[in-house]
Amino acid sequence: MSNATIHTVTISKADIPSGGMKSYKQDDDSIILITRDEDEFSAFDGKCPHAGADLGAGLRCGNRVICPWHHGSFDSSDGTLLEPVAMRGLTQYELTDEGDSLTVNTAAKIDKRVANDKMTDTHTIIVGGGGAGFMTANQLRHTGYGGKITLITQDDKAPYNRPLLSKMFLAGKMDEKHLMLGGADWASNNNIDLRLQQTVSEILPNERRIVITDEEGNSEQQTADFLVVATGAAPKIPPFKGTELNGVYTLRSMDDAQDIKNASDSKHVVIVGTGFIGMEVASALMEAGKAASITVVGRSRRVMANIVSETVSNALIKLHKKKGVTFAFGADVNEINSNENGKVSGVSLSDGSTLAADMVILGTGVAPRTELLNEVNAPDGVQVDEHLQLRDGVYALGDIAKATNKMGRMRIEHWRVALQHGLVTAAAILNEDNVDSLAERIPFFWTAQYGKSLRYSGHAATPDSGILFGSPDNLDYIEYYFDDTGEDTRASAASSLGRDKELIAFSELLRSGHAPTRAQIHAGFDIIEQAQVLSR
Ligand SMILES: Cc1cc2nc3c(=O)[nH]c(=O)nc-3n(C[C@H](O)[C@H](O)[C@H](O)COP(=O)(O)OP(=O)(O)OC[C@H]3O[C@@H](n4cnc5c(N)ncnc54)[C@H](O)[C@@H]3O)c2cc1C
Ligand code: FES
Repeated sequence: MSNATIHTVTISKADIPSGGMKSYKQDDDSIILITRDEDEFSAFDGKCPHAGADLGAGLRCGNRVICPWHHGSFDSSDGTLLEPVAMRGLTQYELTDEGDSLTVNTAAKIDKRVANDKMTDTHTIIVGGGGAGFMTANQLRHTGYGGKITLITQDDKAPYNRPLLSKMFLAGKMDEKHLMLGGADWASNNNIDLRLQQTVSEILPNERRIVITDEEGNSEQQTADFLVVATGAAPKIPPFKGTELNGVYTLRSMDDAQDIKNASDSKHVVIVGTGFIGMEVASALMEAGKAASITVVGRSRRVMANIVSETVSNALIKLHKKKGVTFAFGADVNEINSNENGKVSGVSLSDGSTLAADMVILGTGVAPRTELLNEVNAPDGVQVDEHLQLRDGVYALGDIAKATNKMGRMRIEHWRVALQHGLVTAAAILNEDNVDSLAERIPFFWTAQYGKSLRYSGHAATPDSGILFGSPDNLDYIEYYFDDTGEDTRASAASSLGRDKELIAFSELLRSGHAPTRAQIHAGFDIIEQAQVLSR
């Protein structure tokens, strides 16, 4: 628990069915979670270590405790981390059996520390300090890797939570300190040689060797037993005129977010792009309340068009408009205009109109940073095997990897996918087979706008012709997506707002190969019951 309060709580065994779980909120807002299998009970800190959700409000499916917010998953008997976006397992407490009841003393934590005594004479080099690079290093250390770990990154900061940049950070609700992954002293606490502001300029995969160049241009070579490349993605700059002007921004790093934050005060902001980044930036700047106006420009009349249906898109547009965002739909940007000082003054659109603007934020997609790996044998991403291996001891992961998951081989730009890759790579390096393979994992994504989280599980060719339940306008819906229109086609993705358990249940069915067909959903399939029955 985050604070030092110690609780001694007595819980009746009869409150919890076998195969179930229940959480108990304490007066100081801490939570105790109890799981039960037959006569075996386990007690945990019931706040998800990712962002503090009450795990008791999630679902228990088989041996998995699944978080309601971002589907972090934990083993129900010992709290081991099974699935990110959480990055560590649950704190477990000792239990005293009192016959019909149990007593939990939160001061009696079960020590889960592992000795870092595996592979002590090896060296792992990780290129990239984003989600995938961080997770690899962190997981290696937490599962006993005792070799040397060098993490090299161009960033001037230790690994941080990138998704929060366009959410809490830009909205001014969270500071830099709280974005650092694993806390301020993560690298030294975990004996990781973290090398900031260094660029890997060349990789020789056959020799597992890299060339590092520092800011002064000095270069150095290093050779590894395991080489992990996780260089992420960079914003795409669209081809219209004016993108180089003073006042044009992209958002990938904490510095980018800080620059946008500093610059947006009293400014007329135009956001180009209606994907999740564009929509999150609009929401965060609106919540920060400093911009003079916010306009989002989009080619089509839909937002997040490759993720949600037109109905859900309309509900999101309505929400943004209610908060004060203006949309300029159905037009391309022709040019970003400047004044005599070379500063942004407006945006000319293909319909002949011009929007007044002091700053422009480009949310126009990203491209994978695959330039260091000439082995890229697909136009979009590094082809790797089911262990994310490019060749013996060389791994490519995160946004650059065209890797397998339950839905097939694809490159996905999601935070959880990057973390899954780190988890699986660490297990591959340690040669451990007790970790689910990538082929058993499904993609999951979330976006937060005005404090509401829209979540998406799986991967579908299109969000159109889906089946919708609930009311997107009331921010309470679940929508199932299919790759074709057949009645017997199983749903391959779903998105939801406010229907946490249903989305978890769908994710679990998808993961186990039992996602419902269109016909089953039409017939009134009880998705939560099915997920629990099938996982028993
Ligand atoms: C603002 C923002 C919000 C997002 N929100 C969400 C969200 O809500 N949900 C979601 O699922 N996904 C979200 N994403 C996407 C998610 O953050 C990415 O999918 C994820 O960060 C990919 O992780 P990665 O480790 O592959 O790459 P990155 O996190 O991009 O890290 C790459 C690292 O490599 C370093 N690097 C690159 N080249 C070199 C080199 N030559 N030498 C040394 N270092 C190098 C970079 O400096 C960086 O540290 C968001 C992305 C952004 C930018
Ligand atoms: S709060 Fe549990 S995974 Fe995010």
